[in-house]
Amino acid sequence: DRSIRDNPSMTPSLPDPPAALCATAVAAGLSASPVDYRIETFATIDSTSSELKRRAGDGSIDALVLAAETQTAGRGRLGRTWVDQPGGSLLFSFGWRAPVPATGLAGLSLAVGVGVATVLTRSGVNNVQLKWPNDLLFQHCKFGGILVETINPQPACVDVVIGIGINVRLAAGMRDAVSAPVTDLAPAGWKGDRNGLLAALLVELAAVLERFGREGFGPFRAAWLARHALQQRNVTIWSAGHEIAAGRAIDVDADGALLLQTAAGVRRLLSGELTLRPG
Ligand code: BTN
Repeated sequence: DRSIRDNPSMTPSLPDPPAALCATAVAAGLSASPVDYRIETFATIDSTSSELKRRAGDGSIDALVLAAETQTAGRGRLGRTWVDQPGGSLLFSFGWRAPVPATGLAGLSLAVGVGVATVLTRSGVNNVQLKWPNDLLFQHCKFGGILVETINPQPACVDVVIGIGINVRLAAGMRDAVSAPVTDLAPAGWKGDRNGLLAALLVELAAVLERFGREGFGPFRAAWLARHALQQRNVTIWSAGHEIAAGRAIDVDADGALLLQTAAGVRRLLSGELTLRPG
């Protein structure tokens, strides 16, 4: 089957690594999927999102899923590097042809966050929280992130590359390699395998994207707010190392913008990095 492919030589480096990523095992969990995903795995790649963008030149990337054991140039939001644990991370990107113009996608990464949190909750992880715009947290430590990028914008549709990175099991020392407080799924109570998790995420996200395409972020807003780690907290918003606003995180709107109660009134923010204000 040409739509299911494991590219060779997996070399995970955890002492007792979780089962290797395997396209056939992922496909086995997709019987409930409304979308006919094509899955490829890689032992190592620069970035699954970068590769998916390159593939866009060869044909449709809709429903194409690329997953890797490790990335040599993993990318995060705001131009950051995404560091992974070889063999102990779930790193994947998939394509979606969104039936809306690129301007309609502001809340998409938040909706995807709700989908990921839903799946993790269903598989035994309690208290998954989201941090605006799309960090995945457990006990205020980040264990995953979502990167949404668009290519080939047309008047009524756009190709979207959705990249998701989840720390499944970090080796000791990995936490020190990253400046922010990080964690993985093990202390969060998760005991599954990565292939099953990837399949469950793809099934759930197919439903999320279908609904988002029809109705936008609105239907996901309440679920997102219920999980927001910094809801009603005093926060600072940073952009390129500069403080751009400070206030209380009171809401997100139907576009996924953060609404901040500041001394000068409510401010609406579409991007940036949120930190908790001391005191
Ligand atoms: C963030 O929190 O800044 C987003 C991180 C997204 C990381 C994933 S890992 C799979 C995909 N490939 C990449 O290079 N980045 C995304």
